[in-house]
Amino acid sequence: MTTKTVAELLSQDVTLQDVSVKGWVRTFRANRFIALNDGSTINNIQCVVDFENFDEDLLKRVTTGAAIHVTGQLVESQGKGQSVEIQVKELEVLGESDPETYPIQPKKHTFEFLRENAHLRTRTNTFSAVMRLRSSLSFAIHKYFNDNGFYYMHTPIITGSDAEGAGEMFRVTGLDPKNPPLTEDGMVDYKEDFFGKETNLTVSGQLEAETYAMSLGKVYTFGPTFRAENSNTSRHLAEFWMIEPEVAFMDLAGNMDLAEDFMKSVLSYVLEHNKEDLEFLDKRLQDEEKKLPQADRSPMNLIDKIKFVVDNNFKRVSYTEAIDILRNSKPNKKKKFKYIIEEWGADLQSEHERFLVEKHFKCPVILFDYPANIKAFYMRLNEDCKTVRAMDILFPGIGEMVGGSQREERLEVLKEKMKALDIPEEELWWYLDLRKYGTAVHSGFGLGFERLVMFATGMGNIRDVIPYPRTPQNAEF
Ligand code: 4AD
Ligand code: MG
Repeated sequence: MTTKTVAELLSQDVTLQDVSVKGWVRTFRANRFIALNDGSTINNIQCVVDFENFDEDLLKRVTTGAAIHVTGQLVESQGKGQSVEIQVKELEVLGESDPETYPIQPKKHTFEFLRENAHLRTRTNTFSAVMRLRSSLSFAIHKYFNDNGFYYMHTPIITGSDAEGAGEMFRVTGLDPKNPPLTEDGMVDYKEDFFGKETNLTVSGQLEAETYAMSLGKVYTFGPTFRAENSNTSRHLAEFWMIEPEVAFMDLAGNMDLAEDFMKSVLSYVLEHNKEDLEFLDKRLQDEEKKLPQADRSPMNLIDKIKFVVDNNFKRVSYTEAIDILRNSKPNKKKKFKYIIEEWGADLQSEHERFLVEKHFKCPVILFDYPANIKAFYMRLNEDCKTVRAMDILFPGIGEMVGGSQREERLEVLKEKMKALDIPEEELWWYLDLRKYGTAVHSGFGLGFERLVMFATGMGNIRDVIPYPRTPQNAEF
């Protein structure tokens, strides 16, 4: 008899056959009903034990968290909400779980508590659903690009360049802490960091992706990126995963079309393939919201929010238009924005972004043509010489989900920009080469994967959508 997963058993309609299943006990009620989960689905399978046929000492070892192996007959269930259950014939405890010390008790735990037990939190319904969705979204992303003729490329993790020019890098050092090389004035010589070169963990694979776009045409990266920003928010991680497509001969308008089509496609993939997990998370959120005053509740439930994004066009608005809207709006009846935009050229704060998507347009918004001085050096300068062909995609409940641009393809303009920002040409000689040899219009964007997972699961804190979050407080596991 082959061992089946709980998901396989629950979708089986042929009953009265013997089956075998392994998993972890969620609850054992009345010495009779074991709720068994193996991670294959949000649902448990009920295993019914006739306690008179089993050794009392064996049954005592069937506790929450224990790993067990059950064999028995699959029968139609009399119970509510389950199609089949197992009449247990044989029961083996594979791994005990001391009920006195097992942290994941069959009750509601706070997310803070579960974060401290990140190694066990996927044994709860919420976290198993979130992580199955995370996996499914990753797959949908690779599928989208594969279906659309993109090549997947791996960009370096250790690098000498600062792709964003924002100086938010974690340094990588191979120096011997006890005996580091010293400069002439006796200071640690960090120039010797990585076998004679100063290096850091990558903040983005974009620059390297550009090199491949300029030969393979359509490429994407999907890898870990690192930011040494000490921002302790529910939307920032020091280590996060980014998806970065890069396409030759594509301008900013094409970039917007690609981003919108891509996001709709991966979200509709999970609507189709992760129904049960989404329904569970949707209900969880609705239960949470019932505790809030009516005014603070969200007007749409989770699944409808995702469907809304899939079915409606994103609103495209220039930075200049957005500034006008913000200057003429109040976030609510009485209050002003905390940070008032005095003049054209100021960067938008998250309160402004959220106002635009959540209150004004009430849909995802693509903001484009930002002032050049608040964006990275590589963005294509517009003819007005003031704005660049940048785009940010803002999502309700999340804020910035995507950042991208058409890239500066003109060698002289790029060189001037780098000079103005003190970026040495020697550091990016290979990047400049792309503009010397066969340069062309090209564009791309970066999607913060965890922010997408937050949107698709309705989780409010980015620490709860990545297995082991890296933030100023969390680096233990
Ligand atoms: O806007 P960013 O910094 O853009 C880039 O890195 C470009 N090189 C991308 C490109 O054009 N290929 O980052 C892109 C996205 C953001 O929109 C956000 O979703 C996410 O990455 N992100 C973070 N996510 C979690 N924690 C952080 N600290 C993040 N910083 C950026
Ligand atoms: Mg950005």
